[in-house]
Amino acid sequence: MLHNAIERILEAQGFWADPLGKLFVTIFGALYRPVPALKDFLNGVWFGHPLHPAITDVPIGAYVVALVLDLSGQRSAATAAIGVGIVFMLLAALAGYADYIDLEGKTRQFGTVHSSLMLVALVFYLISFLMRLGAVPSPAEVWLSFIGFLIVIGSAYVGGELVYNLGTQVDRHAWRGGGTKWTALDVTDIPADKPVKAKAGAQTLVVVRRGTSLEALHDVCAHQGCSLSEGKIVGETIECGCHGSRYRLRDGLVVRGPAVFDQPHFEVREAEGKIEVRRTDTR
Ligand code: FES
Repeated sequence: MLHNAIERILEAQGFWADPLGKLFVTIFGALYRPVPALKDFLNGVWFGHPLHPAITDVPIGAYVVALVLDLSGQRSAATAAIGVGIVFMLLAALAGYADYIDLEGKTRQFGTVHSSLMLVALVFYLISFLMRLGAVPSPAEVWLSFIGFLIVIGSAYVGGELVYNLGTQVDRHAWRGGGTKWTALDVTDIPADKPVKAKAGAQTLVVVRRGTSLEALHDVCAHQGCSLSEGKIVGETIECGCHGSRYRLRDGLVVRGPAVFDQPHFEVREAEGKIEVRRTDTR
């Protein structure tokens, strides 16, 4: 019940979050899209895991430490912890916006609320940090960081909604088993260099003929579930038509984001007029 009430509150924020989201996407899209290597790095393609959540624990931990140090009267140490929190919050924001610019609809709306709250918290922490650099302690510097902490916790909840409830940046194949036995495709005619959608039992695949060989990956893009058969062949990869993730055809390895997870790969054999596939990756 509490969750449903919070979700209704978040859904009601579209009147400001939608236009602000468009602005954020324009700004960060202009920053990241011309440099795909930077965006890939910030998405976490090299890491095989989204980078943003791997960084966010640092500022949250630093702010908890600062809170404890403030309560025990250790002003200098609390200031240092807040400084660490601010630096890592900025790094987390850089990575988070790389994921955010590929969001749409409700996920973008929630992402805008999440990032806006974090920006407000960052302002509170920055002011507190600057005040703490002064010689004279002030109760306001502690109150500002405490309010910032409460906002961070609220915003982290919204970030959790994005991942655990709306499935943002999760692997679309996390629970996909099966496909490990040779199974016939429902198509026999695969033209050269053209992605073809085909079924093999319960699995939906994209199959591509490259010269004399056939390559097959699962058709559902690991990023946000678009159909790879509607994408295009780029060199040795297939590019998803939705947000441009690329997977190597010969093994499903993700080579360009925003996807950070590999695509299930199938080996293919042709015999007696039939095409059969069998999954090669193990999860
Ligand atoms: S669904 Fe986003 S890149 Fe494929």
